[in-house]
Amino acid sequence: MYLSFFGMNENPFTITPDTDFFFSYGKHLEALNVLLVALHLGEGFIKVTGEVGTGKTLLCRKLMNTLDDKFEVAYIPNPSLKPDALLMALAEELGIVLEGNESQHKLFKCINQRLIELNAAGKHCVLCLDEAQTITEEGLECLRLLTNLETEKQKLLLIVLFGQPELDRQLSMPSLRQLRQRITFSYQLSAIDWKGLNAYLVYRLLKANYRGDRLFMPDAVEELYRTSQGIPRLINILCHKALIAAYGRGQKTVHRKHIRMAVKDTECIQGRYLFFTPRFVYGAIGVIGAITVALGVVRYDILPKFTPALYAKTDQVIASKTSYIREENQ
Ligand SMILES: Nc1ncnc2c1ncn2[C@@H]1O[C@H](COP(=O)(O)OP(=O)(O)OP(=O)(O)O)[C@@H](O)[C@H]1O
Ligand SMILES: [Mg+2]
Repeated sequence: MYLSFFGMNENPFTITPDTDFFFSYGKHLEALNVLLVALHLGEGFIKVTGEVGTGKTLLCRKLMNTLDDKFEVAYIPNPSLKPDALLMALAEELGIVLEGNESQHKLFKCINQRLIELNAAGKHCVLCLDEAQTITEEGLECLRLLTNLETEKQKLLLIVLFGQPELDRQLSMPSLRQLRQRITFSYQLSAIDWKGLNAYLVYRLLKANYRGDRLFMPDAVEELYRTSQGIPRLINILCHKALIAAYGRGQKTVHRKHIRMAVKDTECIQGRYLFFTPRFVYGAIGVIGAITVALGVVRYDILPKFTPALYAKTDQVIASKTSYIREENQ
């Protein structure tokens, strides 16, 4: 593969959410900070939504890695389960040994007991659920009941939902209004912006131990932004394929044509491009500005020649309009 050709020691654009590659920038950094603050404040229910591939799973993993040992974290990556199965998954994460198929009542009792023990040991328990848009209505209701577990002073279980925008649609159902009211913090993750894209590429390349000259040329970055719209997973897919294309031709830098080859080879991207890139818009503003200034220079240049004639014409008009006053005064 291209790794030794470019002097890297691992794939810089893997699509696996690897926390070593977490780029702390813009919305992603803000989201992480919001989550950390909310959890330290003991907020019961938090929701993070974002389009497909914007980095929710990575953010979830980063959050779990960042929380210190005052927090006991339970993680359910695929929560599209019946309420009983959801409770069993949580129980297992909390280290509860179950005897068999317990009733829901028993499961709640065991979980409550364990949470009280952990709370007494000075731990805050956090349940992180990825792919939360797949949780059933009964599953969400079950989560609401879990947030009822509390001491007189604080919640025993803090819940963070990470989901695609469909989650909001689901939560807007009238039957879930009680749960909706308990969501004290919500955050919407978005794509990486134009300014951040270059830094994102450099960051991931450095993490993969790339130490050479500029690898992605400005025309490539522009094309990348236009075609990926800043969505991290699409950026990674295109960059990986573009590197293969450059390597295949023995070229040490990536240009627009390599990104275009990658796009051609990527079904989920075709036809989803931005029409204008920020670079194009800035360029257009520059050109219009230059034309305006040029016209201004020309006008200032020719205006003096016309000014005496203009004044003469104005005097004539004023004289004709005021002539009757002069006539009346005479
Ligand atoms: N802040 C970031 N820094 C570095 N890489 C990122 C960042 N955000 C996302 N990525 C990368 O983008 C890719 C997609 O991320 P992830 O799988 O977390 O998206 P997702 O929102 O969970 O997608 P889905 O909706 O399909 O579950 C991964 O390769 C991940 O490493
Ligand atoms: Mg995900």
